[in-house]
This record gives sequence, C-alpha cells and structure tokens, in this order.
Amino acid sequence: MKRTQLITTADLSKEEVDFLMEEGGKMRNQRTDDLKGLVCATLFFEPSTRTRLSFESAIHRLGGSVITIADSKSTSMKKGETLEDTIRVIEKYADIIIMRHPEAGSAERAAKVTQKPLINAGDGGNEHPTQALLDLYTIKRELGRLDNLQAGFGFDPKHSRTIRSLAFMLTHYKNNEFTFVCPESLVPKEDMLNNLEGRGATFNIAHNLDDYPKFDLFYANRLQEERFADHDEFEALRKKFVITRKLAESSQTKVLNPLPRIDEIMIDVDDLEQAAYFRQVENGLYMRMALLKYLATSYYQ
Ligand code: NCD
Repeated sequence: MKRTQLITTADLSKEEVDFLMEEGGKMRNQRTDDLKGLVCATLFFEPSTRTRLSFESAIHRLGGSVITIADSKSTSMKKGETLEDTIRVIEKYADIIIMRHPEAGSAERAAKVTQKPLINAGDGGNEHPTQALLDLYTIKRELGRLDNLQAGFGFDPKHSRTIRSLAFMLTHYKNNEFTFVCPESLVPKEDMLNNLEGRGATFNIAHNLDDYPKFDLFYANRLQEERFADHDEFEALRKKFVITRKLAESSQTKVLNPLPRIDEIMIDVDDLEQAAYFRQVENGLYMRMALLKYLATSYYQ
C-alpha cells in the first residue's frame, strides 16, 4: 500500500484504515526517526488547537521539523495571494504539507498544484479525514469493535465536518446504525445522506434524546457557530441539546467529542467512565504519527 496525500475520507480503503489503526496503536509513547530530515509545514488558515498542535507534536516525536502558519492574517494571502500560489511556494520549502482552510474544497484545490505529501486538516464544512481516523480508533479502543454499533451523532450534522467524515468512515464496517440528533434546521445535508445511502448505511434523524440509552456511542459536536448564516439562529439553538451528567449516567453509552466542547456536554460529565473525549485527544496524536509515517514512507522511500 502506498499513499502520498489524504484529501477526503473516501480516499482511504478499509485496508488502509485498518492498517493505520494498527500502526497508531504502536505509536503510544514512542519516539522514532521516521521523519528524520523532513521539514513539515502546518498551514492553519482557520483556528485550531488540537489538530495543529497534535500534528506538530507528532512530527517532533517522529524526528521531523516544523514550520508553521497559525494565523492567515500573517501571510501574503492577506495581500490577495491565491491559495494555489501559496501552496506552490510552500512546497518549495516543505517536504510535507498539512493544511486547514475555511473553504470547502480547498484541500482538493491545493492537491491540484502539488505532488508533495499533503494532508487535509479540515476544509470548511466539508471534511476532516484525520479526525475521522482518530475517532474511529477511539471507538475501537473504547468498545472493542467497529461493527454492530448504534451510533448517535449530535447536534449540528448540517455543518459539522467531523460528523460527516466519521459517519462516512464507519460505513466501511457492517451493521452500524446512525442516528443524527439535531434541531429541524440542522439535519444533515442531502449529499451526505445520499452518500451514506449509497454506501448501504442505515440512518435515522431524531429531534430529541429519548433514545440516548440505546446508543453504544454518542458523538457530540458543538453547533458550528462560524458556519451559521444567521447568528440569531445559532443563539436560539445553542443550548437546545445538552448531555447532562444525569443523562450520561443513565447508560453505558460512550461519549465522544472532537472538541472544543462549548455547550453540548456539561463539565460534570467529564469524570464519568463514559466520557471518552480526553482519551480521544491522546489517540489523535498516535493516529497522526501513523499517518505521517505512512505518507512519508510512501513518497520518500
Ligand atoms: C473540529 C473541527 O475543527 O472541525 N475540531 C477539531 O479538529 N478537533 C470540531 C469543531 O471545531 O467543532
């Protein structure tokens, strides 16, 4: 198997996903020289805490070095330079490029102008494939399986790229049933549902948490404030669905969240065994190490 770029979850075969999870498992507490001598550029044209820093930590743990843009206002894009030109320049400085950008489709645009290893770290409301990898790995570690799952997703499947990417990734495995819990105005977009349908997935849409105890896992994500056309709508909906301690304690349901957590999970849920989201953060480091090693080995060896 070889791969040099990861733009969408659909790029990855099930075989590759399983391979990466196995590799990720071996990265726990490791320091290696798999990226020795390689310069990696982390380009974050949209805010990030976990994704950028876990990638940078992963690069250091693999013996590579990092150059970074953590704020688009500090680049010539502010002067009007195109994304394409920016990538054409950065590929001359870097051996691996990791990019987050607020526009859906931006990672694909970047891939058109560079052959170098490239990773989509989130393109607008579209995709977040590395988050899906770490989410999948977390589910496997927490529940011991990736099939026969009742999976709940809330609460903004319309705008959440992490929900979109994870739901797609889970269609590699059998007999999973998805329930999207959300206000009426935040149901998943048509193309996402068509995609899931095309992959043979079974899904439901619910506007309450009545079925919460039946879920093996519940994937909560904040309402994606920056992607609402109408800010008043965001304010009106933001506390409509919340996982309280009482609800979390009512079942064994594992609670995941890509973070940041805003209103959707109460802080007093954190110390319950069901709360998997900080373990999920750590898993992200190992999965990103595994992915970087895979792409670097494919391209440079
Ligand atoms: C997510 C993202 O950026 O899409 N965060 C992350 O990468 N861990 C989720 C979010 O911002 O809500």
